[in-house]
Amino acid sequence: MQELLITGGRRLSGEITIGGAKNAVLPILAASLISGGVTIIENAPRLTDVESSLEILRTLGCEAGWSQGNLYIDSKNASRCRIPASLTGKMRSSVIFLGALLARFGSAVISAPGGCELGARPVDIHLRAMKALGASVYELAGDIYAACETPQGGFISLPFPSVGATENAMILAASAKGVTVIKNAAREPEIRDLADYLRAIGAGVYGAGTSNITVSGRENFNKEVVHRVIPDRIEAATYMACVCAAGGSASLKGVREDDMRSVLEVFRAMGAEIKTSGDELAIAVNGRLRSPGSIITAPFPGFPTDAQPPVCAALSTCVGTTEIAETIFENRFSYAPELRKMGGNIKVTGTLAVIQGVEMLSGERVCARDLRGGAALMVAALGAEGKSRISGLEHIKRGYADPEGALKALGAEVLLIQ
Ligand code: UD1
Repeated sequence: MQELLITGGRRLSGEITIGGAKNAVLPILAASLISGGVTIIENAPRLTDVESSLEILRTLGCEAGWSQGNLYIDSKNASRCRIPASLTGKMRSSVIFLGALLARFGSAVISAPGGCELGARPVDIHLRAMKALGASVYELAGDIYAACETPQGGFISLPFPSVGATENAMILAASAKGVTVIKNAAREPEIRDLADYLRAIGAGVYGAGTSNITVSGRENFNKEVVHRVIPDRIEAATYMACVCAAGGSASLKGVREDDMRSVLEVFRAMGAEIKTSGDELAIAVNGRLRSPGSIITAPFPGFPTDAQPPVCAALSTCVGTTEIAETIFENRFSYAPELRKMGGNIKVTGTLAVIQGVEMLSGERVCARDLRGGAALMVAALGAEGKSRISGLEHIKRGYADPEGALKALGAEVLLIQ
């Protein structure tokens, strides 16, 4: 079991390049199944969730792996439509393959995707969207069985702008007969990236990034596509939170300001100096930061739930009190007890957290229980006096390719213990 040993209380100074977005590459990997040809994905991050998706693709009969630093998928010989529980257990967002399996094979079996650390994480909206395009779906003992002889374009009105359900709907709609309209669609940048990929293979996708997406399906797709995945806005926000906690400065390359406006607004309200130029972002933090007042997580363009834990960790040593209302997932404060061990003053009632800034945190042995909660502990450890030892690194590695390397490049004292 790997652990990260971080000696905190050291100002940061350095430069890093932000990797490709996890939440963009995963649905694109699923969508590569429908092309029936070769997809090359540039700027893909080397994350365990990406490896799990590649394993799923190989299980389905695709050729899938890394080639010259890019992802290479050939879905020509895909032949199986079932994702076994051994794989869905490794990557809970494997429900994202549902639309692609239906599109490619007309049937899909996804075995017990399982619960999630963040709460119940139901898939009802996904299933409703699949049904709207002609699929029949039933669930048995947690497994999802779906069939759809010829997907038909249709009208889908999402009760909530679910990111995954929007993606599943877009992927199935891309191979459906006719036109599909998705109302109340998610507007996340990763949705636009998936739309770019679907257009590259030949589908007609209009309005991605707005609440109304129209998809015009087709039968045959382009058989060779190169797609460059967008930068990871959550990774960028996490390393910015590291600077906020430890003080100092950093330059982040490969950042899209437009994708991060709500997060930048919060960091600026805390007193961080942020400058952007092209795809470069510079952040400088001098002295103790202050509370921005309150933060409410919301679908894009609101404050992202994934940035909530690391930003919250940085707020633990700010002057003043911050209220955080988590509106997306019901169980997203699993890191709070660990922060309290480090001296943080964070009170959680249901989906509301109140953080009273303390002068200093102190290094501790803490355990990451989920991906972004783990990122919060890295942030807290950098701002804490003394050494912290973070276990549960396997959660962090799902979303951060090389946390040790990135923190070292930012000037942190960090050691990976094998
Ligand atoms: C995606 C991201 C995740 C991010 C989240 C919200 C990926 C791989 N993951 O997750 O990092 O935190 O968006 O920005 O892209 N819901 C239902 N029924 C459904 C689907 C969702 O009730 O069928 C609920 C969820 O339980 C949750 C909320 O809707 O409370 C948002 O979920 P959703 O937008 O679907 O998130 P994901 O696509 O799972």
